[in-house]
Amino acid sequence: MSETSSQQPRVLIPEAQIERRVRELAAQIDRDYQGKGSLMLVGVLKGAFVFLADLARRLTVPREIEFMALSSYPDGSVSGAVRLVMDVRRSVERKHVLVVEDIVDTGRTLHYLIELLKTREPASIRSCALVRKEGRHEVEVQLDYVGFDIPDVWVVGYGLDYAERWRTLPYIGVVDPTEDG
Ligand code: PRP
Repeated sequence: MSETSSQQPRVLIPEAQIERRVRELAAQIDRDYQGKGSLMLVGVLKGAFVFLADLARRLTVPREIEFMALSSYPDGSVSGAVRLVMDVRRSVERKHVLVVEDIVDTGRTLHYLIELLKTREPASIRSCALVRKEGRHEVEVQLDYVGFDIPDVWVVGYGLDYAERWRTLPYIGVVDPTEDG
């Protein structure tokens, strides 16, 4: 089952299964936010752009779209630390905010974002990730909606990349990052 990163990634979650799960998540979020006014979806770039686009179009509650972008400090100069490189354009104050992530791995990115947004006094804040890696979390993080729990493998596709490759695959696949392609 050895696959190099130059080969097509092995399918982990097929397109149809992702579509079904996104519909289910959207239905659950619709129920939870019914009658609460506009929901601000905050997508975390880059990875969340595909999931956010599909989720947002499945929702029926009033919604608005914002994005944030983060970057890890280079060369491990600050271990596990992230910094904000792009902020939302509109205020989150008194808004119901849902942070939308493609993947939660160590949990550091989501933890940082949630703590940051909380200081801006939203009406509420929740988070949603399509994929969560099992056994990897380094910080406790609030995750309210999860699409799939997956093992500790390198996943690509549906917004996820390996060195900027494979982001636009319609399914979630696995590559072996130790084998260079
Ligand atoms: C990925 C992913 C999350 C983060 C999760 O982003 O999109 O934001 O890592 O990891 P964590 O739980 O360990 O913090 P990445 O840094 O690869 O950037 P990208 O989305 O632009 O590819």
